[in-house]
Amino acid sequence: WELKDVLIDEIKTVNNEVGPEDHVICALSGGVDSTVAATIVHEAIGDRLHCVFVDNGLLRFQEKEHVMSTFQADLHLSVTCVDATDRFLSKLKGVVEPEMKRKIIGKEFISIFDDFAHELEQKLGRKPTFLVQGTLYPDVIESCPPPGSGRTHSHTIKSHHNVGGLPKDMKLKLIEPLKLLFKDEVRELGGILHVPQGFLKRHPFPGPGLAVRVIGDVTEGNVLDTLRQVDHIFVEAIKQAGIYDSIWQAFAVFPNIRTVGVQGDQRTHSHVVALRAITSEDGMTADWYNFDPKFLQYVSSKICNEVQGVNRVVYDITSKPPSTVEWE
Ligand code: XMP
Repeated sequence: WELKDVLIDEIKTVNNEVGPEDHVICALSGGVDSTVAATIVHEAIGDRLHCVFVDNGLLRFQEKEHVMSTFQADLHLSVTCVDATDRFLSKLKGVVEPEMKRKIIGKEFISIFDDFAHELEQKLGRKPTFLVQGTLYPDVIESCPPPGSGRTHSHTIKSHHNVGGLPKDMKLKLIEPLKLLFKDEVRELGGILHVPQGFLKRHPFPGPGLAVRVIGDVTEGNVLDTLRQVDHIFVEAIKQAGIYDSIWQAFAVFPNIRTVGVQGDQRTHSHVVALRAITSEDGMTADWYNFDPKFLQYVSSKICNEVQGVNRVVYDITSKPPSTVEWE
């Protein structure tokens, strides 16, 4: 099929389904899928689409500013940005167990979304009736494995909360304009809709954000800021080297371990950070990316020179399996 025709059909379908008085809501994650889904719906019904973007305090360096500018200046979406850093971080205080972190973040997100929907109802004097989700074809297959495929969900490795994760008592009809498409088709569709290429090519980022990249309590000291600085240096260096598009995902991890080092002529007892970069087709299996050693040398010294409290950098050379992509 031609993607342009798919787009025309999707816009028509949304137009037919959503009545002239209906309002639609959408939670934007900052990722490609929800952005393209929202842009399609916006083409169909304009500002009767109301989006929300939640800053959970677990985003990367200047991420909120970057995505909000794409949503508003480039795509003209109507987006409310909720600064919920304190809400999330107070709930995460002292939590070290990875699944517990995911559950707390998922629950808090639902509660914020619920508040958003109620506030919107007050403002409009009527309930929103539809919800847009950026569900892709592989998400549908994964959450509902075809009979006889041998795939079941009895053994959860990590609880991702992208599919079906919204309040059960919220009586909203779903609009899923991408549910027959694969990721590369969604990127192409985004291009047709003038979503900036830099945005469409962004590496995937997990819903629980930096919480699954800090081992242990994310609220301790300034671990999140340190991680943001390291991650930014690493990813910017990858972009400058012209290899960003050859990598599926690249990021930094904060293992929360101190090691002994020597900086200047001082003994230090500071943190080690880990870098991870992988190639993959779909995130289900992955290989570590084989950087030029000179690149690693450059990034390592830049991090130790510029980020306070870090005296050692390690590179993760594990595939998936046996590791997962994220450390938690
Ligand atoms: P793992 O760590 O499971 O990651 O090998 C595979 C891909 O999924 C992303 N990931 C998540 N995405 N919520 C998400 O939306 C999550 O809880 C989550 N955990 C992992 C990960 O970044 C990689 O792309």
